[in-house]
Amino acid sequence: MYVCNCNGVRASQVDAAIEAGAAKPAAVLAHHGCEPQCCRCLPEIAARIKDRQRGHIDDRAALIAAE
Ligand code: FES
Repeated sequence: MYVCNCNGVRASQVDAAIEAGAAKPAAVLAHHGCEPQCCRCLPEIAARIKDRQRGHIDDRAALIAAE
């Protein structure tokens, strides 16, 4: 599934960039050598960043609770 149609960036590529440390939508695109063009994808990328960050927080909370 493409998240950014202008640059042909797929959801899996967005997630890989986030895992590599990209914390802003433009950084996600830059990770793949792209720049925002129409910017329609930026809210979706921002939502994926938030979901990932929330997931990491939930994972840490689960680890702490398990200790
Ligand atoms: S859809 Fe990503 S810049 Fe246009």
